[in-house]
Formats: sequence, structure tokens, C-alpha cells
Amino acid sequence: MTKHTVTLTDNKTGESIELDVLHPTQGPNAIDVTQLYKKTGMFTYDPGFMSTASCWSDITYLDGGKGLLEYRGYSIQQLAEQGSFMETCYLLLNGELPNQTEFDEFTHRVVHHTMLHEQIKRFYSGFRRDAHPMATMVGVVGALSAFYHEYMEIHDEKNRYETAVLLIAKMPTIAAWSYRYANGLPFVYPDNKLSYPDNFLHMMFSLPSEEYLADPRMSRALEVILITHADHEQNASTSTVRLAGSSEVNPFAAISAGIASLWGPAHGGANEAVVRMLMEIRDSEKPVQHFVDKAKDKTQSFRLMGFGHRVYKNYDPRATIIKELCHKILNESEVAEEHRDLLDIAMKLESVALEDEYFVSRKLYPNVDFYSGIIFLSMGIPLNMFTVMFAMARTIGWISHWHEMMGDDKTRIARPRQLYTGETSRDYPPMDKR
Ligand code: CMC
Repeated sequence: MTKHTVTLTDNKTGESIELDVLHPTQGPNAIDVTQLYKKTGMFTYDPGFMSTASCWSDITYLDGGKGLLEYRGYSIQQLAEQGSFMETCYLLLNGELPNQTEFDEFTHRVVHHTMLHEQIKRFYSGFRRDAHPMATMVGVVGALSAFYHEYMEIHDEKNRYETAVLLIAKMPTIAAWSYRYANGLPFVYPDNKLSYPDNFLHMMFSLPSEEYLADPRMSRALEVILITHADHEQNASTSTVRLAGSSEVNPFAAISAGIASLWGPAHGGANEAVVRMLMEIRDSEKPVQHFVDKAKDKTQSFRLMGFGHRVYKNYDPRATIIKELCHKILNESEVAEEHRDLLDIAMKLESVALEDEYFVSRKLYPNVDFYSGIIFLSMGIPLNMFTVMFAMARTIGWISHWHEMMGDDKTRIARPRQLYTGETSRDYPPMDKR
């Protein structure tokens, strides 16, 4: 096959350079600029990585124009309708769906890691009770590096795989305990007989004094939310994990960095921000149009939370699944009914925005975070736990990318360059001359 190249010509010097074009199995081709600096002494400039592919990856593919999302080639719709979160974890980590034996063996491995080192309990009490649970998550997950020394062999593939299993297993326990601690409730140990979502709901809501049975409608809803949030290729938090991991740091520190990155309202923190916005709209008694106008006003920092996406220029396929789920939950559950006013506002907001030239011309659609918060509220999960839920689901994505990256011989320490705009060299003046 003929090598595909592009020629770059400097119109100042007239010098040209040929750069290779790289062809992935799906998605846009990329110009290989790795030799550019060596050959021309110039960098590329791309703040926010608008046009930059940072790695090769086999894990997740998304086509923002078509609104398509696939994990290892399987559509998110099929996985959400027919699959389980455990199968999704296996798929993301191993590349294939498990057969029954592989599934049983994997589940067995996961459930036997759900407990936390008993001393980690004491780590929680160092936090203020009113700490945001995401702050607790960043701390506790980072602190795992102080407890599980035997999982530090980052160049050993088997050890990396075991760390992945350990993290998927422990994340619901860590997440639920951050809620229990904040609310002065006793920590509930995992119950390995339960499914992944049921076990999480058990650790969140059961009391030592009463029997607890998770509502199967809520368990299924949580399963779908976990699947739809499991991975999203090179988003900010996954790129953070890869960047931190590229320095060969231990995986717990890398995942803790990913959790920190997810927390921001432009990323996973949007699920909390959406519901706060919907509540603000409801309590203001102002029409939805007022908030749509405010979001368009460039003199204000206000944005429609849960709207817009760097890659999707069409409806986010995860939002379609979650919106449907939200309707289902609200129609089926008497408890959830009390949040119908928020769903009504969300739907009104969506319909007004999708008719508005500002949102249409910029291709701004609801994203994964627009409807998920109403489901969380219906489950009894408090606002400040929403991004923790996202982190719990995304852990498998982060760790699969870290595992892939550590096994990739093209991985180098991630070290971007800059265009310096500061002062040029000058002499140090004594204090009395400044
Ligand atoms: N409300 C109002 N205007 C918006 C919005 C919004 N939610 N999102 C983008 N725009 C405008 C933006 O002002 C800009 O306008 P102009 O061209 O006139 O300057 C244009 O649309 C392009 O936006 P951008 O900020 O350059 O796009 P980006 O790709 O850098 O940012 C985003 C993507 C998701 C950060 C942004 O759309 C946003 O802030 N959305 C609200 C927060 C949110 O819902 N985040 C969750 C993202 S999906 C889940 C996840 O990643 O975890």
C-alpha cells in the first residue's frame, strides 16, 4: 500500500516537509507530527486538544456527528438494553464479551476484593463531616497506594489486571462509605451475594437494625447508568489518568488524579450542576426562556448545564438512553414521582433550547449529565454524591485505558510544550532598585 503523506510548506523559507498520515480503523485520519520538532524546530499549537489525537486505542469509539458510541465495537444501546455492568467491565478490560465460565470467574474475582483494609475506615474520620464526597474520594482512592503495596508492579501485565479488578471491586465500598461518613451512619460491609448495583445500594441505604431489599427497578436503572458512564475514550479525566500514569506513578495515584479531573462542572460535575440549575429554575418561578436567554448572554458566565459536548455535534446517545430511563422510573415509582417537576422543567428547557438558533447553530444538545441527576434523586442519592456515582462507573474506563497505555510500547512520558510569552532574560535587580 502506498504510504499516505501530507506536505507542509513554510511560506517564509520555502522549505517543505512530508508528514505521514495515520489511518485508524474508524474515525478521522491523523497527521503524525512526532518528528516535526526534530525536523523543523517547530511545535504544533492546540490548546484544549481540539485537533489532537494523543494515543492509539482499541477500547471505545465515538462518532460525534452521528451520535454513535461503541465499547470494543458493541453499541451502547445494545449493551445498556441487554448487558450488565460486570460484562461491560470484562469487555472494556479484555476486549471481548465473556462466556459464562469467564463471566463467573471474573465476577468471583471482583466480589472477593470488595472489602477495604480495616484501617481505611479510620482514614475517613480525618475528613470533616461536611466534606464534599468527591474530596473524600480523591483522598481515599489516592490513599489506597499506602495500603496495597503488592499492586505496584506496573510493568507486570498480570499485576496490572489484578489492580484493575481490585479497583472496580472497591470503588462502590469507597463511594458508599463517603456517603455514610458524611451522614453519621455506620459503615455497611459489602455483601458478596449481591449484584454490583444491589451491593452498592445495600452499602448506601441499609441499616444494621433493619432488613434492606433494593428496589429492582432502581437496581436496573443503576446498572444502565453504570454501563452508559463506563467509558468515553480520551475525555479530560481519562486523559488525566493517562498523563499521570505516563510518569509511571502507581495506579491508585493515577485514578485519584482522574477523579479530581472528573469533579469539575465542565466534565462529570455537570450532573450535580444540572439538578442545582433545575432547582434554581423551579424556585425562581421565572420562565425557562429566561434561563435560555441567560445562557446565550456572553456577558454572563451561566451556561445550560448538561448541554453541549466537545465531540457530540448530535444528540448524545447516552442522553437518549438515560432520558428514556428517567421517564420509566418516574412513571413506575411512587417515590420518584416527587421529582416530576424537575423532569418537566428539563424537558421544557430541552425543547426551548433545541428550537433556538443559538443552540441549533452551535449543535448543542443534551449530554449524558442532563437527565441522570433526576434518576439519582429518585434513588435517594443526594446531590453531592452524583459525581461520585459517575466516578464509580468510570473507574473501569480509566483503569482499562491505564492498562492499555502501560502495555503500549509507544507510551512516553506526556510532556507538552508551550509558546512562551513572558519576559526575556534580564538581570536580577537589588531590592532598593525595584
Ligand atoms: N450553554 C451555552 N452555551 C454553550 C454551552 C452551554 N452549555 N456549551 C457550549 N456553548 C457555546 C459556547 O459559549 C461557544 O459559543 P461561541 O462559539 O459563541 O463562543 C460554543 O457553544 C462552543 O462551546 P465551547 O465551550 O467552545 O465548546 P467546548 O467543546 O470547549 O466545551 C463543554 C464543551 C461540554 C465543556 C461545554 O459545552 C459546556 O460547558 N457545557 C456545559 C457543561 C456540561 O454539561 N458538561 C458535561 C459534558 S458531557 C459529560 C462529561 O464530559 O463528563
